[in-house]
Amino acid sequence: MEKIVVANLKMNMTAAYVNNYLNGIKEDINTKKVVICPPALYLPYFVRKKYSVGAQDCFYVDEGAYTGCISANQIASMGIKYTIIGHSERRQYFHETDNIVNKKVLNALENDLNVILCIGETKEEKDMLKTDKILKRQLINCLRNVNENKIENVIIAYEPIWSIGTGLIPTMKEIKSTTAYILEIVNSLYPDKKVKILYGGSVNEKNIESINKIDNLNGVLVGGASLDPHKLRKIKEVVLG
Ligand code: PGA
Repeated sequence: MEKIVVANLKMNMTAAYVNNYLNGIKEDINTKKVVICPPALYLPYFVRKKYSVGAQDCFYVDEGAYTGCISANQIASMGIKYTIIGHSERRQYFHETDNIVNKKVLNALENDLNVILCIGETKEEKDMLKTDKILKRQLINCLRNVNENKIENVIIAYEPIWSIGTGLIPTMKEIKSTTAYILEIVNSLYPDKKVKILYGGSVNEKNIESINKIDNLNGVLVGGASLDPHKLRKIKEVVLG
Protein backbone atom coordinates (compact mmCIF):
# COMPACT_ATOMS: atom_id res chain seq x y z
CA MET A 1 0.00 0.00 0.00
CA GLU A 2 1.30 3.44 -0.90
CA LYS A 3 2.03 5.43 2.25
CA ILE A 4 2.69 9.07 3.04
CA VAL A 5 3.44 11.25 6.03
CA VAL A 6 2.02 14.77 6.07
CA ALA A 7 3.63 17.29 8.44
CA ASN A 8 1.34 20.19 9.34
CA LEU A 9 3.55 22.87 10.89
CA LYS A 10 0.51 25.13 11.49
CA MET A 11 1.29 28.76 12.50
CA ASN A 12 4.60 27.91 14.12
CA MET A 13 8.20 29.12 13.68
CA THR A 14 9.79 32.47 12.91
CA ALA A 15 12.19 32.80 9.97
CA ALA A 16 15.29 31.97 12.03
CA TYR A 17 13.74 28.77 13.31
CA VAL A 18 12.69 27.73 9.81
CA ASN A 19 16.36 27.80 8.90
CA ASN A 20 17.22 25.52 11.84
CA TYR A 21 14.35 23.26 10.94
CA LEU A 22 15.49 22.96 7.34
CA ASN A 23 18.95 22.06 8.59
CA GLY A 24 17.42 19.56 11.00
CA ILE A 25 15.26 17.66 8.54
CA LYS A 26 17.86 17.37 5.78
CA GLU A 27 17.91 14.83 2.98
CA ASP A 28 16.32 11.87 4.73
CA ILE A 29 13.00 13.70 4.87
CA ASN A 30 13.43 14.81 1.29
CA THR A 31 11.20 12.27 -0.33
CA LYS A 32 7.97 12.69 -2.25
CA LYS A 33 6.30 10.65 0.48
CA VAL A 34 6.82 13.21 3.24
CA VAL A 35 4.70 16.27 2.51
CA ILE A 36 5.63 19.29 4.60
CA CYS A 37 3.00 21.98 5.07
CA PRO A 38 4.68 25.08 6.50
CA PRO A 39 3.05 28.49 7.02
CA ALA A 40 2.34 29.98 3.56
CA LEU A 41 4.98 32.65 4.07
CA TYR A 42 7.71 30.02 4.22
CA LEU A 43 6.55 27.76 1.39
CA PRO A 44 9.21 29.05 -1.06
CA TYR A 45 12.06 28.04 1.28
CA PHE A 46 10.85 24.45 1.22
CA VAL A 47 10.09 24.50 -2.50
CA ARG A 48 13.57 25.78 -3.25
CA LYS A 49 15.11 22.90 -1.30
CA LYS A 50 12.97 20.48 -3.30
CA TYR A 51 10.91 19.13 -0.44
CA SER A 52 7.50 17.75 -1.23
CA VAL A 53 5.36 20.59 0.00
CA GLY A 54 1.72 21.39 0.74
CA ALA A 55 -0.21 24.51 1.68
CA GLN A 56 -2.29 24.47 4.87
CA ASP A 57 -5.31 26.00 3.16
CA CYS A 58 -6.32 27.79 -0.03
CA PHE A 59 -9.15 30.02 -1.21
CA TYR A 60 -11.77 28.94 -3.76
CA VAL A 61 -11.32 31.71 -6.33
CA ASP A 62 -8.29 31.83 -8.63
CA GLU A 63 -7.49 35.54 -8.20
CA GLY A 64 -8.97 38.86 -7.21
CA ALA A 65 -9.74 41.18 -4.32
CA TYR A 66 -9.52 38.69 -1.42
CA THR A 67 -7.09 40.31 1.00
CA GLY A 68 -4.99 37.84 2.93
CA CYS A 69 -5.93 34.77 0.89
CA ILE A 70 -3.83 32.55 -1.34
CA SER A 71 -5.44 30.63 -4.16
CA ALA A 72 -5.02 27.06 -5.34
CA ASN A 73 -4.02 28.54 -8.68
CA GLN A 74 -1.18 30.48 -7.02
CA ILE A 75 -0.11 27.45 -5.00
CA ALA A 76 0.02 25.30 -8.13
CA SER A 77 1.96 28.03 -9.95
CA MET A 78 4.76 27.58 -7.38
CA GLY A 79 5.09 23.92 -8.31
CA ILE A 80 3.35 22.85 -5.08
CA LYS A 81 1.33 19.66 -5.38
CA TYR A 82 -0.73 19.46 -2.18
CA THR A 83 -3.03 21.49 -0.01
CA ILE A 84 -4.79 20.69 3.23
CA ILE A 85 -8.46 21.75 3.17
CA GLY A 86 -11.10 21.75 5.90
CA HIS A 87 -8.78 21.40 8.88
CA SER A 88 -10.83 21.63 12.08
CA GLU A 89 -8.88 24.74 13.13
CA ARG A 90 -10.09 26.45 9.92
CA ARG A 91 -13.60 25.29 10.65
CA GLN A 92 -13.43 26.41 14.27
CA TYR A 93 -11.58 29.75 14.11
CA PHE A 94 -12.51 30.86 10.60
CA HIS A 95 -16.05 29.51 10.54
CA GLU A 96 -15.52 27.35 7.48
CA THR A 97 -18.60 25.33 6.74
CA ASP A 98 -18.83 22.11 4.73
CA ASN A 99 -20.06 24.29 1.87
CA ILE A 100 -16.97 26.51 1.90
CA VAL A 101 -14.74 23.44 2.25
CA ASN A 102 -16.49 21.92 -0.77
CA LYS A 103 -15.85 25.04 -2.88
CA LYS A 104 -12.19 24.93 -1.91
CA VAL A 105 -11.92 21.23 -2.73
CA LEU A 106 -13.47 21.76 -6.18
CA ASN A 107 -11.24 24.71 -7.00
CA ALA A 108 -8.07 22.98 -5.75
CA LEU A 109 -8.82 19.88 -7.86
CA GLU A 110 -9.53 22.13 -10.84
CA ASN A 111 -6.01 23.48 -10.34
CA ASP A 112 -4.59 19.94 -10.27
CA LEU A 113 -3.63 19.97 -6.59
CA ASN A 114 -3.86 16.90 -4.41
CA VAL A 115 -6.28 17.70 -1.61
CA ILE A 116 -5.82 16.50 1.95
CA LEU A 117 -9.41 16.79 3.15
CA CYS A 118 -9.78 16.78 6.94
CA ILE A 119 -12.88 15.43 8.62
CA GLY A 120 -13.57 14.49 12.22
CA GLU A 121 -15.97 14.62 15.12
CA THR A 122 -15.94 16.63 18.35
CA LYS A 123 -15.79 14.95 21.76
CA GLU A 124 -19.43 15.78 22.33
CA GLU A 125 -20.44 14.19 19.03
CA LYS A 126 -18.38 11.11 19.88
CA ASP A 127 -20.01 10.80 23.30
CA MET A 128 -23.45 11.11 21.70
CA LEU A 129 -22.49 8.23 19.35
CA LYS A 130 -22.80 10.57 16.38
CA THR A 131 -19.35 10.01 14.88
CA ASP A 132 -20.53 8.01 11.85
CA LYS A 133 -23.33 10.43 11.13
CA ILE A 134 -21.00 13.46 11.29
CA LEU A 135 -18.35 11.86 9.11
CA LYS A 136 -20.91 10.81 6.53
CA ARG A 137 -22.32 14.33 6.43
CA GLN A 138 -18.87 15.87 6.06
CA LEU A 139 -17.91 13.45 3.28
CA ILE A 140 -21.09 13.92 1.29
CA ASN A 141 -21.06 17.71 1.64
CA CYS A 142 -17.35 18.30 1.15
CA LEU A 143 -17.10 15.96 -1.87
CA ARG A 144 -20.25 17.27 -3.58
CA ASN A 145 -19.71 17.54 -7.37
CA VAL A 146 -16.22 16.11 -7.19
CA ASN A 147 -15.84 14.27 -10.46
CA GLU A 148 -14.88 10.60 -10.35
CA ASN A 149 -11.86 11.44 -12.53
CA LYS A 150 -10.54 13.63 -9.73
CA ILE A 151 -11.47 11.70 -6.62
CA GLU A 152 -8.17 9.82 -6.45
CA ASN A 153 -6.49 13.21 -6.00
CA VAL A 154 -8.30 13.54 -2.69
CA ILE A 155 -6.70 12.08 0.43
CA ILE A 156 -9.04 11.86 3.39
CA ALA A 157 -7.50 12.71 6.77
CA TYR A 158 -9.56 11.39 9.65
CA GLU A 159 -8.82 13.75 12.53
CA PRO A 160 -11.01 13.44 15.63
CA ILE A 161 -11.14 17.05 16.84
CA TRP A 162 -10.81 16.00 20.48
CA SER A 163 -7.55 14.28 19.63
CA ILE A 164 -5.81 17.22 17.93
CA GLY A 165 -3.05 18.62 20.11
CA THR A 166 -4.42 16.96 23.24
CA GLY A 167 -2.32 13.80 23.55
CA LEU A 168 -5.56 11.80 23.52
CA ILE A 169 -6.07 9.30 20.74
CA PRO A 170 -8.82 6.82 19.94
CA THR A 171 -8.05 3.14 20.50
CA MET A 172 -6.49 1.37 17.53
CA LYS A 173 -9.71 -0.59 17.21
CA GLU A 174 -11.68 2.65 16.99
CA ILE A 175 -9.35 4.13 14.36
CA LYS A 176 -9.64 0.94 12.36
CA SER A 177 -13.41 0.75 12.46
CA THR A 178 -13.93 4.48 11.85
CA THR A 179 -11.56 4.59 8.89
CA ALA A 180 -13.20 1.43 7.51
CA TYR A 181 -16.52 3.24 7.75
CA ILE A 182 -15.08 6.29 5.92
CA LEU A 183 -13.78 4.04 3.14
CA GLU A 184 -17.17 2.38 2.91
CA ILE A 185 -18.87 5.77 2.39
CA VAL A 186 -16.29 6.89 -0.16
CA ASN A 187 -16.60 3.57 -2.01
CA SER A 188 -20.35 3.92 -2.11
CA LEU A 189 -19.96 7.40 -3.63
CA TYR A 190 -17.12 6.37 -5.96
CA PRO A 191 -17.20 2.65 -6.66
CA ASP A 192 -13.90 1.14 -7.89
CA LYS A 193 -11.85 4.22 -6.98
CA LYS A 194 -8.88 4.07 -4.64
CA VAL A 195 -8.92 6.90 -2.13
CA LYS A 196 -6.14 7.19 0.41
CA ILE A 197 -6.89 7.68 4.06
CA LEU A 198 -4.71 9.10 6.82
CA TYR A 199 -5.12 9.31 10.57
CA GLY A 200 -4.30 12.59 12.36
CA GLY A 201 -4.54 13.68 15.99
CA SER A 202 -1.70 13.47 18.55
CA VAL A 203 0.43 11.20 16.38
CA ASN A 204 3.92 11.03 17.85
CA GLU A 205 7.14 9.02 17.75
CA LYS A 206 5.82 6.70 20.47
CA ASN A 207 2.36 5.77 19.21
CA ILE A 208 3.30 5.61 15.53
CA GLU A 209 4.26 1.92 15.66
CA SER A 210 0.74 0.92 16.74
CA ILE A 211 -1.03 3.36 14.41
CA ASN A 212 1.06 2.17 11.49
CA LYS A 213 -0.22 -1.38 11.99
CA ILE A 214 -3.77 -0.36 11.10
CA ASP A 215 -4.01 -1.87 7.67
CA ASN A 216 -6.49 0.45 5.97
CA LEU A 217 -4.36 3.54 6.66
CA ASN A 218 -2.11 5.08 4.01
CA GLY A 219 -0.21 7.08 6.58
CA VAL A 220 -0.57 9.91 9.07
CA LEU A 221 -1.06 13.66 9.35
CA VAL A 222 1.23 14.94 12.07
CA GLY A 223 0.94 18.33 13.79
CA GLY A 224 2.91 19.03 16.98
CA ALA A 225 5.41 16.17 16.66
CA SER A 226 6.41 17.31 13.17
CA LEU A 227 7.93 20.49 14.63
CA ASP A 228 10.76 18.38 16.00
CA PRO A 229 12.94 17.01 13.17
CA HIS A 230 13.95 13.97 15.28
CA LYS A 231 10.35 13.02 15.96
CA LEU A 232 9.36 13.57 12.34
CA ARG A 233 12.26 11.40 11.21
CA LYS A 234 11.24 8.58 13.56
CA ILE A 235 7.64 8.75 12.34
CA LYS A 236 8.82 8.72 8.75
CA GLU A 237 11.05 5.69 9.40
CA VAL A 238 8.20 3.71 10.90
CA VAL A 239 5.66 4.59 8.18
CA LEU A 240 7.88 4.51 5.11
CA GLY A 241 10.44 2.01 6.35
P1 PGA B 1 -1.48 17.19 16.36
O1 PGA B 1 -2.21 17.92 15.13
O2 PGA B 1 -0.61 16.10 15.75
O3 PGA B 1 -0.69 18.27 17.03
O4 PGA B 1 -2.55 16.62 17.22
C1 PGA B 1 -2.69 17.19 14.04
C2 PGA B 1 -3.37 18.11 13.09
O5 PGA B 1 -4.03 19.06 13.52
O6 PGA B 1 -3.27 17.95 11.86
